[in-house]
Amino acid sequence: MKSLIDKIARQALYRMDSERAHNLAIMALKSGIPLAHPQPSSKRLKTICAGMVFPNPIGMAAGFDKNAEAANALLRLGFGFVECGTVTPKPQAGNPKPRLFRLEEDGALINRLGFNNDGLVAVRQRVKLRAGQGGIVGINIGANKDSADRVADYETGVRAFGDVASYLTVNISSPNTSGLRSLQDRGNLSELLTRVLSARNEVARRKGVPIPLFVKIAPDLTEAALSDIADEALDKRIDGLIISNTTLSRTGATSRLAHEKGGLSGQPLFERSTIVLAKMRLLVGPAMPLIGVGGVNSTETALEKIRAGADLVQIYSGMIFEGTCLPGRIVEEMGAFAQREKLSSLRQIRDTHVDDWAARELA
Ligand SMILES: Cc1cc2nc3c(=O)[nH]c(=O)nc-3n(C[C@H](O)[C@H](O)[C@H](O)COP(=O)(O)O)c2cc1C
Repeated sequence: MKSLIDKIARQALYRMDSERAHNLAIMALKSGIPLAHPQPSSKRLKTICAGMVFPNPIGMAAGFDKNAEAANALLRLGFGFVECGTVTPKPQAGNPKPRLFRLEEDGALINRLGFNNDGLVAVRQRVKLRAGQGGIVGINIGANKDSADRVADYETGVRAFGDVASYLTVNISSPNTSGLRSLQDRGNLSELLTRVLSARNEVARRKGVPIPLFVKIAPDLTEAALSDIADEALDKRIDGLIISNTTLSRTGATSRLAHEKGGLSGQPLFERSTIVLAKMRLLVGPAMPLIGVGGVNSTETALEKIRAGADLVQIYSGMIFEGTCLPGRIVEEMGAFAQREKLSSLRQIRDTHVDDWAARELA
């Protein structure tokens, strides 16, 4: 059942401009008002991935808590991990407003925020302050819009967060920073990975253990591009791929706001991002960690990501439409599912639908 406070808050937020509503939600989380009362995760949901032990496989996707202000509060909603960011070296205002749109009838959002964030000095300070408090908090890093050397921005991000975050995500798939997605092209990707991994290993020499490094990719890639990324990911031995960011496609979006420029997320993205996830699972094989993101808004859609090849699952838009009880509800229902099916771990259902999903055409 949805909590009353959650219901009232969501009705008020729905009437408001989308970005103001988002800022208020972050404020409410920071204030410590209990927005959900999740049960502890079932032991059956424990997931070991990229050397980390997750209490459950459901994570908050990047972009919700860009400045790492509410990581602890998000963990208290029931998430098994939280990804903060995208953080760029210098603070950045992002694109002119309005830049975030709610497509009510489609259960979708379009955003063209453009990496608005406080910059790495301020965010590092916040992450450092909470570092001893437990919970898995990853940091998603990006490049400034006006940067002369974007790869250098990622190296700077790795050096800044390599000793305070649980893991790092190299985000090269935002559609809202012009030219950023070209870093996914084979030659560029090879150079980027060589340099960020070298920065990561440099931090590891000081810190002791190398921090896991993931790369987040777009859902708008050709089969050939997916194959190139898989080869690079395996060759350079990154720790995993996050699939996917928002899409430039408008398939499945019927709202009058569907023409707005930016990345589409939520329900219409589920199919596309799950197909890309499954194709990537077949390309990289069973050992590489994959995190499935895009259109998850229920226990069934979360389980389907795992069946399509995901080790972990992240959510953003689903929580905007379903409320702050969603992560706790999914975790509870997943635990009940695992018990009913006598699964000691959800790893036992991973890949069970991978061939079906991978065989589908990308519309
Ligand atoms: C308003 C908004 C802002 C986002 N900002 C970021 C970001 O800064 N970095 C990033 O890697 N992904 C960002 N994303 C993408 C999400 O992390 C996620 O990949 C995408 O929304 C698909 O998941 P969903 O359908 O559950 O929303 C953003 C998404 C939304 C809706």
